Amino acid sequence: MPILYRSSLSGLSPRNLQGFFVGWKRRPSPRTLLRLLHHSNEIIVAYDSAADRVAGFVTAITDHVLSAYIPLLEVLPKYRKQGIGRELVRRMLRKLEPYYMVDVVCDESVVQFYKKFRLTKSTAMIKRNYKHQSGRGTGRG
Ligand SMILES: CC(C)(COP(=O)(O)OP(=O)(O)OC[C@H]1O[C@@H](n2cnc3c(N)ncnc32)[C@H](O)[C@@H]1OP(=O)(O)O)[C@@H](O)C(=O)NCCC(=O)NCCS
Repeated sequence: MPILYRSSLSGLSPRNLQGFFVGWKRRPSPRTLLRLLHHSNEIIVAYDSAADRVAGFVTAITDHVLSAYIPLLEVLPKYRKQGIGRELVRRMLRKLEPYYMVDVVCDESVVQFYKKFRLTKSTAMIKRNYKHQSGRGTGRG
């Protein structure tokens, strides 16, 4: 399937962004996903032009000086294990090359995946407000 890697959201609507946040109890809607993509500093979407849908995406937020953080990476289940996740991360790390700190917080199950990019395991402190899991201001908290 022809996958295009894009850093622009032009022409994309919630209709093209269905099926993400697999396994989340309160899933952000496609509309909320589009909103967070618009607000992220850097994005790359893997677009399946044949199916007219986004197959995967990665986001980054940054202070534009020292640090960048990759909060979200997801490939839809039917598109996994075809190299799309690797290509999304490879391209995002290249964009973030000018920064001193590039951080990802991930589950243990994905550590081996990120090690392929020479990221090193560290310690993170996190907080999750589950009542807002579907997105700030979505009214579904
Ligand atoms: C993690 C994820 C993005 C990988 O996407 P993908 O398109 O299937 O990955 P790729 O096909 O590009 O795989 C790249 C390599 O990583 C390996 N890999 C993929 N997922 C892996 C995982 N969960 N754990 C360990 N290795 C993994 C692949 O075997 C492949 O290895 P190779 O280079 O030796 O062939 C995808 O499984 C996903 O969306 N998971 C749910 C969301 C998630 O966990 N996101 C990360 C949160 S920070």
